[in-house]
Amino acid sequence: MKPILDVKGLTRIHGKSCDGCLAATGPKVGGNQCPHCGSIVACADVSFQLMEGEILGIIGESGSGKSTVIRLLYMLDQALAGGALLHGGEESAIDLMALNRAQARQLRDRHMGIVHQNPRLGLNYQISAGGNIAERLLMSGNRRYHDIRRIASELLVRTEVPVSRMDDFPGTFSGGMQQRVQIAKALSTRPRLLLLDEVTTGLDLSVQARILDLILELQRELGISMIVVTHDLGVIRLLASRTLVMKTGRIVESGLTDQVLQDPQHAYTQQLVASAL
Ligand SMILES: Nc1ncnc2c1ncn2[C@@H]1O[C@H](COP(=O)(O)OP(=O)(O)O)[C@@H](O)[C@H]1O
Ligand SMILES: [Mg+2]
Ligand SMILES: [Zn+2]
Repeated sequence: MKPILDVKGLTRIHGKSCDGCLAATGPKVGGNQCPHCGSIVACADVSFQLMEGEILGIIGESGSGKSTVIRLLYMLDQALAGGALLHGGEESAIDLMALNRAQARQLRDRHMGIVHQNPRLGLNYQISAGGNIAERLLMSGNRRYHDIRRIASELLVRTEVPVSRMDDFPGTFSGGMQQRVQIAKALSTRPRLLLLDEVTTGLDLSVQARILDLILELQRELGISMIVVTHDLGVIRLLASRTLVMKTGRIVESGLTDQVLQDPQHAYTQQLVASAL
């Protein structure tokens, strides 16, 4: 298997930061706030590979830096240090951390998709569900009205949103349905890389289960490489072949999901697994 993404040393610090930030924070210290300068080390030295067609899980408690990693990879924020090489396609690998705004937007529109925990971050509530998908298709360079309408309705069918609701606004949909529309929108450009940040958190269990099934099916059918971020071990167990465990902005453990769950090495992972039993 070939890597689609090579992440090395990703670091993001909120605040002015000082020489002591990294040594004075982290899992051994037990916090992410630098005692010298007060800055927050949201993530530090995060390195991993994502393989083609793989679902990689990132698990950790609230505030451990999971969304920070996703936001950096989607180029919504800037890293203080580190790189992330996206492979695939005809071009040579692209360093996501080295792109300017216009380049970042183009790459995102063509090759990446994101699904947020909060659908308000991923959907435009002023336009219809179909319009949300159409907007993304237009940005990625697809221009024919009939094509766009057809692709949008196919995607809604695929994500099990009633096509009869295509012209309804996202605000009129249930939470689970809004996530399906977000997924349809993210998939519309057939991205190489899909980032999912707590996409089922807060939904009813039965709705969660159906959305997780949908994600698995899509991955099997389309072979999209995905990073799934969650604080829920159940989600990791179901979706991810490999898992990274984060605490206070650092990766404290990584490996095959089964191994991480059955034989956790780090005390923090042991605690996570024990509390989920
Ligand atoms: N804009 C910000 N300013 C200051 N601190 C932030 C900001 N965004 C996130 N943080 C902090 O960075 C840390 C990691 O946050 P986040 O990546 O959202 O964690 P997670 O997604 O694992 O819950 C947390 O301590 C959070 O409070
Ligand atoms: Mg988060
Ligand atoms: Zn500091």
